[in-house]
Amino acid sequence: MTPAAGGSPADDIDEAVALLRAGGLVAFPTETVYGLGADAASPAAVERIFAVKGRPRDHPVIVHLHDAEAMDAWAARVPPPARQLAAAHWPGPLTLLVERSARVPDEVTGGRPTVGLRVPAHPLARRLLAAFGGGLAAPSANRFGKVSPTTAAHVRADLGGAVDLVLDGGPCTVGVESTIVDCTTVPPTVLRHGGITVQELVVTVVDGTTGPSRAPGMLESHYAPAAAVELATSAAAAADRAAALRRLGRAVEVLDPGPDAVAYARHLYEWLREADARRLDVLIVVPPPDDGIGVAVNERLRKAAGAR
Ligand code: TXA
Ligand code: MG
Repeated sequence: MTPAAGGSPADDIDEAVALLRAGGLVAFPTETVYGLGADAASPAAVERIFAVKGRPRDHPVIVHLHDAEAMDAWAARVPPPARQLAAAHWPGPLTLLVERSARVPDEVTGGRPTVGLRVPAHPLARRLLAAFGGGLAAPSANRFGKVSPTTAAHVRADLGGAVDLVLDGGPCTVGVESTIVDCTTVPPTVLRHGGITVQELVVTVVDGTTGPSRAPGMLESHYAPAAAVELATSAAAAADRAAALRRLGRAVEVLDPGPDAVAYARHLYEWLREADARRLDVLIVVPPPDDGIGVAVNERLRKAAGAR
């Protein structure tokens, strides 16, 4: 059964809050991807996230908040552009890096002086955050290095019994992770393209995604299926390459969903997972146009293609 958006009975939320207060792990939907949540104020609870994901301890995790007012408790200072971005785009698929306050445990930031904050828009995430009251540390709810989950079934397939509870809010509507903007620089710097496009942002930013990465975890092939991913420049080129590989006996398919980048983003991770379910050797992908949310899709496709 798939509950309506924001669905999940009230007792699920009660159980989730009880588990979180006891240091447990609760996977929950956001509009971008599913998160693996723990009480951000509890070093032991956050520690469990790293153990379950198999993620290096120095990779910082995002703290999810119910509203922008909560930002001041987790940030040492909030520069005006961060305040403007939060006011315009939260709740939404945007993560802001700001100087951390003393309340943020080292486990959350990997010892860094900054913390990533985000107010998600998914109604079930909002209900959970309202009921919990605190901040939820949550990376994407997949094993380290694998494709992010966009359904509760993906979470169960990846993490199974290692999670205390999976809240099912249906398929994620955005489908790629949040845009990350480092607000400790002037002007602020985009570190990861995501659910909100740079053009939509109400503040002028510089693109930091092409230079040396400042965020540990951003350089790895985070978005890679087991199949090799190859990018094709056109449908015709993809068909030629597929035919050539099939002659060599490889299991190949072409992914060419067309120019609708919003739909592309929404289904991308599901399609990458399907490539593995079908035991493909190679997935040949025709990318979406490189504008709008297509920029975020292409960033992930390039990483998937560079993974081997
Ligand atoms: O849409 C999203 O952002 C999802 C949902 C669950 O909110 N979360 C997500 O988390 O994608 P994760 O951990 O898979 O990716 C977060 C990225 C990592 O690459 C991490 O290095 C970076 O954000 N990050 C988080 N806090 C940071 C900090 N203080 N400094 C630098 N990078 C940071
Ligand atoms: Mg992730």
